Amino acid sequence: MTDDIFDRIREDHEKHRTLIELVEKTHGDSRGRRELFGRLADDVRAHAHAEERVFYAELLEAGQTRDKAGHSVKEHHEAEEIIEELLQKDYSSSGWLNRFATLAEELRHHMDEEEQEVFALAGKVLSAKRKKEMAQEFDRLKAEEKQRLGKKAKAA
Ligand SMILES: [Fe+2]
Ligand SMILES: [Fe+2]
Repeated sequence: MTDDIFDRIREDHEKHRTLIELVEKTHGDSRGRRELFGRLADDVRAHAHAEERVFYAELLEAGQTRDKAGHSVKEHHEAEEIIEELLQKDYSSSGWLNRFATLAEELRHHMDEEEQEVFALAGKVLSAKRKKEMAQEFDRLKAEEKQRLGKKAKAA
């Protein structure tokens, strides 16, 4: 595997951008909306948790990247709050799509910022070797997070 952590994160972002567009096209309390949003919600949360555990954990340790990493983690928490809210909310209510529009805007901003600003800074503190190792750790942790979310959903 030649991918490094930047490639892995970008790959997930592309998937999230596509899912966001698909959810935007859905109507009311449809199976499509539930299914697509469910997929987006799980993947975004697992992605963010894996980023925090393997990527941001190290960036928070380095002076050059600390502030930016703290900002990104804060944005994760904000996005997660809206995701939780949307999962509880009536999918057919007029407020659902409005709230989703806010989430979509926040996520798009967050992904662009990671790709443009965070990666540029992170490139200064992470070696090529470490970036490759991180891609594998990311995959492992993300799978673990997905399993945890699946169990949580069953228990609810
Ligand atoms: Fe993120
Ligand atoms: Fe990300």
